[in-house]
Amino acid sequence: MSETYPDRIPLASVDDLPDPGARGFDPGGQGHDTLFVVRHGTQVCAYRDACPHFFGETQMAWRKDAYLNGDGTRIVCHAHGAQFDIASGECVLGPCLGQRLTPVEIDVTDDGTIVLIAT
Ligand code: FES
Repeated sequence: MSETYPDRIPLASVDDLPDPGARGFDPGGQGHDTLFVVRHGTQVCAYRDACPHFFGETQMAWRKDAYLNGDGTRIVCHAHGAQFDIASGECVLGPCLGQRLTPVEIDVTDDGTIVLIAT
């Protein structure tokens, strides 16, 4: 599936996300979240909402915005329980050990707006 975006799309304010927390977005109007942003302390990063396990297209959250484990220290795919390092997107526990989530380029502006950069 290919998705195209304009050059820069504002997604949300950093303050709209809990800390730690995550939120899914559907900037291409696919009818489901295609990427998610994770906030963890001063760290803000984004990945495609597609687990590298099981053909690499499975959406990860079992309900809207449920991308993290209970204490907010790792990204979780709820299909088969894979856990991913927030900063690197690397699977550190589960069936796709060593594989990585696909990063999505974002920018955080001076006023705290999270902006999607076209890829
Ligand atoms: S599809 Fe994500 S762990 Fe299996």
